[in-house]
Amino acid sequence: MKLSLGVFCLLGILIPGRIGLRLHYDGDQVLRVLPQTSEHVKQLQQLCDTLLLDLWKPLLPEDIQAGEELHIRVPASSLQELKGGLNQHLISYAVLIRDVQEQLDSSMPREGSSHWRVPEGYSYNVYHPMEEIYHWMYQIKESNSELVTQHYLGMTYENRPMYYLKISQPSNKAKKIIWMDCGIHAREWISPAFCQWFVKEILQNYKTDPKIKSFLQNLDVYILPVLNIDGYIYSWTTERLWRKSRSAHVNGTCFGTDLNRNFNGSWGSIGVSHNCSSLIFCGTGPESEPETKAVARFIEKRKSDVLCFLTIHSYGQYILTPYGYKTDLASNHQDLVEAAEKAAVALKEKHGTNFTVGPTSLVLYKNSGSSRDWAHMIGIPFSYTFELRDKGAYGFILPPDQIQPTCEETTTAVMTIIEYVNQKHFPNSAVAVTSGSLWLWLSVLFTWTLS
Ligand SMILES: *[C@@H]1O[C@H](CO)[C@@H](O)[C@H](O)[C@H]1NC(C)=O
Ligand SMILES: *[C@@H]1O[C@H](CO)[C@@H](O)[C@H](O)[C@H]1NC(C)=O
Ligand SMILES: *[C@@H]1O[C@H](CO)[C@@H](O)[C@H](O)[C@H]1NC(C)=O
Ligand SMILES: *[C@@H]1O[C@H](CO)[C@@H](O)[C@H](O)[C@H]1NC(C)=O
Repeated sequence: MKLSLGVFCLLGILIPGRIGLRLHYDGDQVLRVLPQTSEHVKQLQQLCDTLLLDLWKPLLPEDIQAGEELHIRVPASSLQELKGGLNQHLISYAVLIRDVQEQLDSSMPREGSSHWRVPEGYSYNVYHPMEEIYHWMYQIKESNSELVTQHYLGMTYENRPMYYLKISQPSNKAKKIIWMDCGIHAREWISPAFCQWFVKEILQNYKTDPKIKSFLQNLDVYILPVLNIDGYIYSWTTERLWRKSRSAHVNGTCFGTDLNRNFNGSWGSIGVSHNCSSLIFCGTGPESEPETKAVARFIEKRKSDVLCFLTIHSYGQYILTPYGYKTDLASNHQDLVEAAEKAAVALKEKHGTNFTVGPTSLVLYKNSGSSRDWAHMIGIPFSYTFELRDKGAYGFILPPDQIQPTCEETTTAVMTIIEYVNQKHFPNSAVAVTSGSLWLWLSVLFTWTLS
């Protein structure tokens, strides 16, 4: 089993085109459907169950609501039946992706094409398979040893090492920690692309950018570029739209746990499935998965030093705060939202992209066992889930030409949150005067001069 999987992964790397065992999505479509009445909702829930559709938004048939659009991937074989059902019940819909396989093919780097490997170095404008990300991590710490170290976090279910990068300016001062993980869900490829981009941004700019300089005096940044390594590899070799980890359940009859429903934050209580065939299977217990356990053990040990926990997902364009499992607001809700709203404003200034800010259970849907809720529950004050681009036009198949703008705007947003956290926690640090406080001083001065 292990051996054949290893050979298989190797094949996937050597032959990036279509290979025999890879699942294809020829003729599958992604539809946007708008139920208008509770009758529509019931009919849609029934269609989802009988046709085994892949819901992209929301993830659970129970969360379908009148007036809220849903996005579904429909296998080619079920298209006629579904569209027939929608027409019959007068439910309006539009085609978002006309042929999922075609869209996938056009977003995959091709062997030998000019951007697969650029001679001058690593290209941050393409999606990279895991082998290349491992190699990238090694290169990054080798060539930036004054700032970056690489550390072992744990092993995945399929025995692959998980490493994080620690970005830390040498200092004898005790520093606090910003944590960021990417790639907890396999198919959300833009997420690992962002973690890599973000590291590059810090390395390129920390010597000259006063804001980065300032927060690195107080904060170390820990970055886990791919949390769900087994799932990510599987999404490259076998099933592009795979979401979960690759752990085997019920005697190998079904695979994978939704790692973002496996944390010890009101685990298993809401918005999850206990059926291992489900996309949102929460595992057999809190931290039942080695990947979840590795992250949780690590963070728990340092929880009094971690000021900010960021987990990067796609899609939907949200900055989400705790909680997901209940509608109660976090004790520091106002600060959480203030920082996130600043981030959303800065993000929008970059390319005009709209992000929604708010508690997960109120602006998106309820779910339990997320790392964001868990991190806040163990006492980490600033805990957020980012849902990057887009809002459904391409969904999980975001074309590579959107990697750069997505990463640029998200970098701005994440930097804004880190600065907020830094200033909140280290109010007397040598921060460049912000335009806000400058205005305040000018107006004070002006009033004083007039009086
Ligand atoms: C798994 O297989 C064993 C041995 O065949 C059997 O006793 C057990 O009931 C099975 N478990 C499940 C959950 O099917
Ligand atoms: C989960 O959290 C509860 C309550 O905080 C604790 O009692 C339990 O030991 C934790 N479980 C794990 C697996 O860490
Ligand atoms: C789990 O879900 C699968 C697929 O929907 C279904 O066939 C199976 O009966 C379910 N298992 C249980 C124990 O409910
Ligand atoms: C962003 O949201 C505003 C207000 O809801 C809307 O007017 C604007 O068209 C949106 N912009 C984009 C690019 O979607």
